[in-house]
Amino acid sequence: MGLKVRWGIIGLGNIARNFVKDLALVNEAQIYAVASRDMVKAQAFSKEYQVPNAFGSYKELFECKEVDVVYIATPHTLHSELTIMAMDHGKHVLCEKPMGVNRVEVQKMIAAAQRNKVFLMEALWSRFNPTIKRVKELVDTGEIGSLAYLHADFAFYALDRDFEGRVLNPKLAGGSLLDIGIYPVFLSYLLLGKPDQILSTSNFHANGAEVQTSMIFKYPKAQAILYSGFTSRSEMKAEISGEKGTIYIPGRWHEAQGYTIGKNNENEEIKLPTTGRGYYYEINEVHTCLSQGKLESALWSHQNSLDLITILDTVRKQNGIVFPFEG
Ligand SMILES: NC(=O)c1ccc[n+]([C@@H]2O[C@H](COP(=O)([O-])OP(=O)(O)OC[C@H]3O[C@@H](n4cnc5c(N)ncnc54)[C@H](OP(=O)(O)O)[C@@H]3O)[C@@H](O)[C@H]2O)c1
Repeated sequence: MGLKVRWGIIGLGNIARNFVKDLALVNEAQIYAVASRDMVKAQAFSKEYQVPNAFGSYKELFECKEVDVVYIATPHTLHSELTIMAMDHGKHVLCEKPMGVNRVEVQKMIAAAQRNKVFLMEALWSRFNPTIKRVKELVDTGEIGSLAYLHADFAFYALDRDFEGRVLNPKLAGGSLLDIGIYPVFLSYLLLGKPDQILSTSNFHANGAEVQTSMIFKYPKAQAILYSGFTSRSEMKAEISGEKGTIYIPGRWHEAQGYTIGKNNENEEIKLPTTGRGYYYEINEVHTCLSQGKLESALWSHQNSLDLITILDTVRKQNGIVFPFEG
C-alpha cells in the first residue's frame, strides 16, 4: 500500500454519495475507483466526485490492482456475496450494515476474511461517532453507576416509498429491523452486552415487509426498550440511565453531535460535533487498522458483528421475519 489508501466504492446509491463526501475529508484516503451495474451511472458519479476510474461492473473494480479497500454500498442481500468476492481478489473490505442478512452469511464473510488474510469491518459508523465513544467510556468507567435502563429508537415514515426499493422490498431483505432497528440493538449491545432474554413483537405491511418492531432486552439488572419503525417518525433520542446519573443523546442519536449528562440534579451539556457527516471516523478506523497490519477492528470486531446479527436473527425468529430467498 502506498502513502494513500486507495478506495473503491461499489453500488452508487444514497449512502455511497454521503460516504464519498466524508472520504474526501480524510487526508490519507484516495478515492480511486467507483463501480456500478450501469457504466453511464458510474461515469456520472466519477465526474461529480472527481473519481479517476469508473467501471460498469463490480467485478472490474475487484480486478483493479490499484484498489486497496472496497466499500460495499449495495442492498443488504448482496453484502455477503460481494464482500467475499472482493476479499477473494485480495481486497480489504468495509461493508455496509448489516454485515450479512443472517448469522450464516456473516460467518462465511469472516471465514473468507481469515482465509484471504484481509481486513474486514462492518460499517457500523455509530461505533466511531465521538459522542457514542465518549458515552461508552462514561458507562464503562462507572460515571453514571450500574446501568438500569436504556431507551433508544429509530423511526421515520417510509410507507410512501417505492415498494420495489430496498427499504420495503422483502426480496432485498427490506424492513425496519435490519435497516434501522440495528442501531438501537447495537446501542444496547454496546453498553449492556448480550441480553439474557429478548421479548419482541413486529407488524407487517401487506407486501410482507416488517414495518414496526418493539423489543425489550432483559439483563440481570437492567432493561432496554428498543424500537424501529417505518410507520411514523420518532424523535430518535436515546436515554441511558444508571443508579448515579443519566445520559441523554438528542435526536438523531445514532449520528450524535453531543450529549447531556445529568447527575445530582444538575445537567451538563457537552458538544461534540462531527467532522463531515460522521463516516469520517469509521474511515479513519480502517486506515489505523491497516497501518497496524490488523485484520479486524478492536472497536467493532468480527465477534461484535456476529453477536449483533445473532440478536437480530433471534428477533426475526420470534416474529416470523423471513425473507423469500431464505425459503
Ligand atoms: N451507514 C449509514 O448511515 C447507512 C445509510 C443508508 C444506508 N446504509 C446501508 O447501505 C446499503 C445501501 O443503502 P442505500 O440507501 O445507499 O441504497 P440505494 O440508494 O438503493 O443504493 C444501493 C445501490 O446498490 C446497487 N444495487 C445493486 N444491486 C441492486 C439491486 N438489486 N437493487 C437495487 N440496488 C442495487 C445500486 O447501485 P448501482 O446501480 O450503481 O450498481 C444502488 O444504487 C444498505 O445495506 C443500507 O443498510 C447505511
